[in-house]
Amino acid sequence: MIFRQLFDSVSSTYTYLLASRRGGEALIIDPVLERVDRYLKLIEELDLRLVKALDTHLHADHITGLGALRDHTKCITVMGEQSGVDVVSMRVADGDDLRIEGMSLGVIYTPGHTDDSYCFTMADRVFTGDTLLIRGTGRTDFQNGSARAQYDSIFNRLLKLPDETLVYPAHDYKGDMVSTIAEERAHNPRLKVRDAAEYEALMAGLKLASPKMMDVAVPANMLQGLHQEEVARRGWALEAKAALALPGDRENVLIDLRERGERQRHGTIPGALHAPYADLAENIGPGGMLHELAGIRRLVFFCAFGERSAMAVQAAQDGGLQSACHIAGGMAAWKLAGGALAG
Ligand SMILES: [Fe+2]
Repeated sequence: MIFRQLFDSVSSTYTYLLASRRGGEALIIDPVLERVDRYLKLIEELDLRLVKALDTHLHADHITGLGALRDHTKCITVMGEQSGVDVVSMRVADGDDLRIEGMSLGVIYTPGHTDDSYCFTMADRVFTGDTLLIRGTGRTDFQNGSARAQYDSIFNRLLKLPDETLVYPAHDYKGDMVSTIAEERAHNPRLKVRDAAEYEALMAGLKLASPKMMDVAVPANMLQGLHQEEVARRGWALEAKAALALPGDRENVLIDLRERGERQRHGTIPGALHAPYADLAENIGPGGMLHELAGIRRLVFFCAFGERSAMAVQAAQDGGLQSACHIAGGMAAWKLAGGALAG
């Protein structure tokens, strides 16, 4: 396994780069915008292909590198379904599995620091975001934070993980890099409370100053969606309403780019072909399934929110598949337009 813990000294943020092997797919957690060039260089040096970029929550102390990494690598951006971000490629919920080649992260919804905070488990470790820090916990006094919810997330979810689970937080201000669940249970001063009410009182008494970057970072982090004007201007985007008549139309083929878990949880468009975004290059390349189909039918890509499909249209068009277009806004727009669903 490749595991790198990277540090941004300005915001004291830890960013994690994960992959199962050299030459394979990689995932990054909590990237910082100013460090994107360094991540890209490391990814290249390790011969990795970044396929997913994930934020544990909407950050208030730094600008996320999600959008920039997507623009450079065409990776999938991921956040929780509660996040106030305008558009990410994929939204996850409690109990999901987040997969890349050779690796799977468990998804735990842990509100409290913010209402969109998530933790991610992987084999012997957990990425705790700002929910559980080393000898601390994330503040709960803004961004719909809740000390009571955080108590529940920590005591009833994180502390139920095996004692030896390694704890990798999103920040540390003292130089600590890793802890364990048992160590935090025993020595974290914020966890020395009898009940939720006592935890609430403790958090209410902290009187912290607002993060320096907050007024800049929060608005910037809420606007990470891909700029899709060019795809629309070139006539490669269909409004969901205009796509309602497509199922059953033999001139077109609807192509679902989402992953299996997303299809199971949210349904799909009747008759759609499943061709996950991860396999796009192979599918649209010479000899690929979609390459062949493009000669006889119009390719209508769709995904969850229109971001993966916009990138797919651009890639297909760049590869000479002139019949490629997509459904703007993806399944979310399709459902709003009253589109039919198949399980
Ligand atoms: Fe945070």
